[in-house]
Amino acid sequence: MDSPSSSSSVPSSVLIVGSGVFGLSTAWALCKNPLFKDTTITLVDRQTFPTPDGASIDTSRIIRPDYASPPYTRLASRAQNLWRTTFAPEHYHETGLCLVGAGKQLNYVNASLANVQALATDNVEVCKDGEDIKRVTGTSNASGEAGYVNWSSGWADAEGAMIWLRKEVEAYSRVKFVTSTVSKLLIDHATSVVSGVTLSTNPPTTLTASLTILAAGAWSASLLDLRGICKATGQAIAYMPISPAEEASLRNRPTLLNLSNGLFMIPPSRGLLKIARHGHGYANPTTIRHPESEDPNETITVSLPYTAIDDPSQQIAPEAWADCRQFLTHIHPSLSTPTRPFTKSKICWYTDTRDGDFLISYHPKYKGLFVATGGSGHGFKFLPVIGDSILECVLGETPDDFKGKWDWPMTRVPEDEWEGDGSRGGPMGLILSEEMSKARASKL
Ligand SMILES: Cc1cc2nc3c(=O)[nH]c(=O)nc-3n(C[C@H](O)[C@H](O)[C@H](O)COP(=O)(O)OP(=O)(O)OC[C@H]3O[C@@H](n4cnc5c(N)ncnc54)[C@H](O)[C@@H]3O)c2cc1C
Ligand SMILES: *[C@@H]1O[C@H](CO)[C@@H](O)[C@H](O)[C@H]1NC(C)=O
Ligand SMILES: *[C@@H]1O[C@H](CO)[C@@H](O)[C@H](O)[C@H]1NC(C)=O
Ligand SMILES: *[C@@H]1O[C@H](CO)[C@@H](O)[C@H](O)[C@H]1NC(C)=O
Ligand SMILES: *[C@@H]1O[C@H](CO)[C@@H](O)[C@H](O)[C@H]1NC(C)=O
Ligand SMILES: *[C@@H]1O[C@H](CO)[C@@H](O)[C@H](O)[C@H]1NC(C)=O
Repeated sequence: MDSPSSSSSVPSSVLIVGSGVFGLSTAWALCKNPLFKDTTITLVDRQTFPTPDGASIDTSRIIRPDYASPPYTRLASRAQNLWRTTFAPEHYHETGLCLVGAGKQLNYVNASLANVQALATDNVEVCKDGEDIKRVTGTSNASGEAGYVNWSSGWADAEGAMIWLRKEVEAYSRVKFVTSTVSKLLIDHATSVVSGVTLSTNPPTTLTASLTILAAGAWSASLLDLRGICKATGQAIAYMPISPAEEASLRNRPTLLNLSNGLFMIPPSRGLLKIARHGHGYANPTTIRHPESEDPNETITVSLPYTAIDDPSQQIAPEAWADCRQFLTHIHPSLSTPTRPFTKSKICWYTDTRDGDFLISYHPKYKGLFVATGGSGHGFKFLPVIGDSILECVLGETPDDFKGKWDWPMTRVPEDEWEGDGSRGGPMGLILSEEMSKARASKL
C-alpha cells in the first residue's frame, strides 16, 4: 500500500469527487491546514449545491456521542463540542436522544449506555419501562421496552449546517467548485495510477490532480469496484406538515429512536414533522460498466442510489409508508388521524460497509486515489471533524483509534454475510424495484 508518511508527500493538487459531509469537510480541512497551503483544490459534484438527493442534505440529523464503539464515541464527543460552540451553532439543538428497543436490540442500547456512563455522564436517564419512555418523550404510547435518554445529545438542521460550511469554505477562496458528473476515474492500467477523472460533458473533458479523493457517498460504487466493501441502501423518510402549536409542544422533546424497528422521530422544525427508518434499507441492484475494466463491455452488478433526480415522482414504497404511519399512530395517535397524510417522502441512500466503519483510505492498487466514504448512516454528526481526520489518513497518520477500522479491508466479504453495526431494525432483504412495483400495482 502506498501511504505517504511525511509532509514531503503533500499533494500539489487535490480533486475531491462529491460535496457531501465527507467531501466538503475535506475541502474545508485542506483550506485550514497550513501543510496544504500550496495545494490547489477542486471539488466536483454532479448537482448544484445543496445536492437535493445527497445523504447530507435534509431537515435534520441526530448528533449523538453514544455509540456501542468507544472510538466513535470519542470522535463524536469532539464533534459535538464544536456543534455546541463554533460550528454552525444556530443549526444545532440539544434536546436529547431517547434510544429504546426490545429484545435483541437492547444489547446495542445497553452497550451504548455503558460507554456513555464511562464518560462520567450526569445527564443520562435510564428508562426501565414504557411509562418512563412516555414521560421523557412526551408520547402517548410506548409500551413494553426499555432504553435511556441522554439529555446531552441533540440534532442538527443538516441542510442549514451544510450551507454554513459551504460558506466557510468559499470564504477561503481556495476551492474551485465544478458542477459536472464524473463518468469515470482516469486510470492508467499500465502503471496503476489514477490521475483525475473524466466528466460526462459532450465531448468528454477531464479534471486532473496528483491526488483524487473519491467521496461520492452511495454513488462511489459506480466509479470504483466496491463489491463486498460498500453498498448503497435506500432509507425511508416521511414528512407531515404540523401547526405552530403542535410544533411548539414537541420542539423541545428528545429524538425518539426505536432500535427494534429502526423508526425514529426527530423534533419537528419549520412546520414539518419527520418520521424516518434507520433500517437495513432497500438494495437497488444495477448493472453497470465495470468501472475499473479496460474492456468496455465488462459489467458488474452493484446496489446504487435511485432518487428523485432519476424519477421526480419518486415516493417511498407502500411498506415504508405503512411503517412510518404505524409508528406515528403508536406514539402520537392524536397527530396520526386519517385526515393528516404525510405530504412528502424521500429515499435517502446510506453507503453501508460490512460493520458500519467508515472507509477512509488510499486505494490498495491505484496510486493517486484515496477513498473517503462508507458513512453507514451515521456520518453526519462528524461534519465538524471528519475532514481533519481524513487529512490525517491522507498523510499516513490514521488516528490510532481507527487503525484497522477505516483501512481498505483485506478481503471482500459477500454482502449477505455482512454483520452490520448492530443498530439497524425493521425489514431485511428488501429490493427497491420490487417494493416500488407493489406501489404501482396498488395504484392500478
Ligand atoms: C435518511 C438518513 C438519515 C441519517 N441520519 C443520520 C443521523 O441522524 N446522524 C448522523 O450522524 N448521520 C446520519 N445519516 C448519515 C449521514 O447523513 C451520511 O453518513 C453522510 O451524509 C454521508 O455523506 P457523504 O459525503 O458520504 O455522501 P453524500 O452526502 O451523498 O455526498 C455524495 C456526493 O457525491 C456526489 N456525486 C455522486 N456521484 C457523483 C459523480 N459521478 N460525479 C460527481 N459527483 C457525484 C453527489 O451528488 C453527492 O453530493 C443519515 C443518512 C440518511 C440517508
Ligand atoms: C439491558 O439493560 C436492562 C436494564 O438494565 C436489563 O433489564 C436488560 O436485561 C439488558 N438487556 C440485555 C439484552 O442486555
Ligand atoms: C450524553 O452524551 C453526551 C454527549 O455530549 C456526553 O458527553 C455526555 O457525557 C452524556 N451524558 C450526559 C452528561 O449527558
Ligand atoms: C398503545 O399501543 C398498544 C400496542 O400497540 C395498543 O394496543 C394500544 O391500543 C395503544 N394505546 C393507545 C392509547 O393508543
Ligand atoms: C419499538 O419497536 C418494538 C418492535 O417493533 C415495539 O414492540 C415497540 O412498541 C416499539 N416502541 C415504540 C416506542 O415505538
Ligand atoms: C464490445 O461489444 C461490442 C458489441 O457486442 C463488440 O462489437 C465489441 O467488439 C466489443 N468490444 C470489446 C473490446 O470486446
